[in-house]
Amino acid sequence: MSHLVAPSVLSADFSNLQRDVELINSSKADWFHVDIMDGVFVPNISFGFPVLKALKKYATKPLDVHLMIVEPDKYVQTFKEAGADVLTVHIEACPHLHRSIQNIKACGMKAGVAINPHTSTQLLHDLIADIDLVCVMSVNPGFGGQKFIENTYRKISELKQMISERNSSALIEIDGGVDLINYKKLLEAGANVLVAGNTVFSSANPLQTIVELKTV
Ligand code: DX5
Ligand code: ZN
Repeated sequence: MSHLVAPSVLSADFSNLQRDVELINSSKADWFHVDIMDGVFVPNISFGFPVLKALKKYATKPLDVHLMIVEPDKYVQTFKEAGADVLTVHIEACPHLHRSIQNIKACGMKAGVAINPHTSTQLLHDLIADIDLVCVMSVNPGFGGQKFIENTYRKISELKQMISERNSSALIEIDGGVDLINYKKLLEAGANVLVAGNTVFSSANPLQTIVELKTV
């Protein structure tokens, strides 16, 4: 499977959201990456259900929803109703992660697990065969436009090996600081999904930047 590119809506122009959604619709991007932040799990607040529903109204590609919130289990069904296609929870926010994953799947969504930069890939060993996606945070979650953490390459290699050993079909997604300089090395290490916020939306030519991120 060729890799996927998921522009992060966090870096879009919220006063022209429909325009930016239509820009991504018309691009070579595969998914919309949608960051939900609660000001508790991360030191920032982004947006909630009304904005997600507005995105769903115009988006013609799947919504990859990344929850940076505490107690995500409370809202799984509501995120489904608001339009999430992939729902990713943080391992650091879920004491009963196996149950959380089963719940997301039972609601008809793909289930993802995100791990913070300090979290070992080994914590996913007993769950990797049950999940559809691992989101490797390559910055500390909370803000767009941060510097990429180099240790991420090693984590991708570890996950790639674990996925193959456990016969898992989980995709490896990289979130944070992905740019036109590091994306090829990430793909070589085994990344399957590239999230890009600042790189796409700060570009003078977002459509061309997405074409470049899709080029191997
Ligand atoms: C960070 C978010 C990211 C962010 C990526 O907490 O999870 O999805 O939007 O933005 P860039 O690509 O600008 O680092
Ligand atoms: Zn994200």
